[in-house]
This record gives sequence, structure tokens and C-alpha cells, in this order.
Amino acid sequence: MDFSDIKSIVVLTGAGISKESGLDTFRGEGGLWQGVRVEEVASPQAFNSNPELVHSFYNIRKEKLLNDAVKPNAAHQALRRLEQEWGDGFLLVTQNVDDLHERAGSEKLVHMHGEILKGRCTACQAVMSWTGDMNAQSQCPNCNAVGTMRVNVVWFGEMPMGMDKIYTALENCDLFISVGTSGNVYPAAGFVQVVSARNGAQSVELNLEPSLNAAQFTGGYYGPATEVVPEFIDKVLAQRR
Ligand code: OAD
Repeated sequence: MDFSDIKSIVVLTGAGISKESGLDTFRGEGGLWQGVRVEEVASPQAFNSNPELVHSFYNIRKEKLLNDAVKPNAAHQALRRLEQEWGDGFLLVTQNVDDLHERAGSEKLVHMHGEILKGRCTACQAVMSWTGDMNAQSQCPNCNAVGTMRVNVVWFGEMPMGMDKIYTALENCDLFISVGTSGNVYPAAGFVQVVSARNGAQSVELNLEPSLNAAQFTGGYYGPATEVVPEFIDKVLAQRR
């Protein structure tokens, strides 16, 4: 593949990039959705009918994320290097609610499925850092309402965040890189089609195994993210004119 004429890059990441940092993916053996009915923990209906169960699901994930052993890995770091060395014409879109891209130093970043370390008040809509446990009695530090706080993640049936910015970047990029995502969840799974509808735009999948959309990409490299992502980014940067 020839990357010498690339001007603008969009990277999409999914749970696979954080796997080698010690965080579980969603699907497959040992995944977060195994043995769980997604609608019971990750939907507005679940939150209305059983808020304590929903809070507890996210409190446990938060605790895992904040464990000292969980750190950004070589793939997160390589994406930060790409952002720094590329300059203008770069956007990182993540489906992940963890903060490992930020901890690696990424700044041009959109969390389309929200952030687990933030809370949102359903009464006043204020969004704030919330690293500790949350429960059905939690109080909003902004409007002081009690029992109105929820984790600031996107649930099934809700609109992903930052979509205008994401589609503008996708419509203008010449290289789309998808990392560690299975291609099960839309709209993210449809980004490759937005890019491949344009002549000359390239799209590359970096994943442990071919995703559901693998055939729609112009190229793919398969293996653990900590190996394939740094190698691929070296290739792109080395060819830049
Ligand atoms: P999935 O769990 O569906 O897919 C993770 C992908 O990462 C799979 O294709 C794995 O093969 C791959 N993978 C696993 N280990 C890897 C490694 N070490 N290196 C590279 N790839 C690896 O997770 P997502 O595609 O991110 O949404 O899931 C998308 C969305 O579905 C999530 O954001 C979440 C979930 O429901 C919401 O909660 C709204």
C-alpha cells in the first residue's frame, strides 16, 4: 500500500486496543456482554427500572479501569505519536469509554460512546469528572438534585456523541484506520463505507482477526494491537512526503 499522498487521517478504535492493557472486550470468550443481557445494564429502560444494577455494572468496570496495573499500551502510545507527528488532518475516534488514549497523551480525540469516568446529571445536564462509585442516591454537585446522576456513556437506543465532527472528518480523510473493533455496532461499523464511497481513499483494518466488515477495507493487518499498530504507524510515517 502506498501512503505517500495521504493528507488526512481518521482512526477508529474499539475494545481490542485496550485488551492488552487488561480491560475486557465485549464480545467473545470472557467478554463483558457474555452472560449479560445488554438491555438490562446498558439502556435507558434498564436505568429507569433498576438503577442500582446499572450503577453497579459501571462501578465495577470503573474500579477495574482504575486498578494500578491498567495502563496505556504500545498501541495507544503509537496513536499518540501519529497525532503528534502528523499535525493537522488527524482525528482519533474511540468507541471506548476508558481513558487510556488520554493517559497516552492523545488530544484530538472524540469519545463517541462517552466516558466512564464522567457523570451526567439528568436534571441539569451538567457533565463532570466522577471517578468514584455512583448510586441511586448520588447528588449532583452542580444543581444539588439527589438521585439524578448517571454515568456519561452512550446506552443502546441513544445517540452517539460528536457525530457532526466525526462525519466531517470522515468525509475529508484519505486514510481511515480501524483498530480493535468487531464491526457489530453502528454507526461506527459503517464508517468504512463512508470513506470507501470516495475514489482513492484508503481504509485499513488492524485487528486480532478479520472483523465482520473486513471485506470493505482496502487493506488489513492482523495480530495483537501492541504489535500491528506501532508497525503500521511506522510504515505510514516513513512514507510521508
Ligand atoms: P468487541 O468486543 O465487539 O470487539 C473487539 C474486537 O477486538 C474483536 O474483533 C477482537 O478480535 C479484537 N481484539 C481482541 N483482542 C485484541 C488485541 N489484543 N489486539 C487487537 N484486536 C483485538 O468490541 P467493540 O467492537 O469495541 O458499545 O464493540 C463496539 C461497541 O459494542 C462498544 O463500544 C460497546 C459495545 O456494545 C456500547 O456500549 C454503546
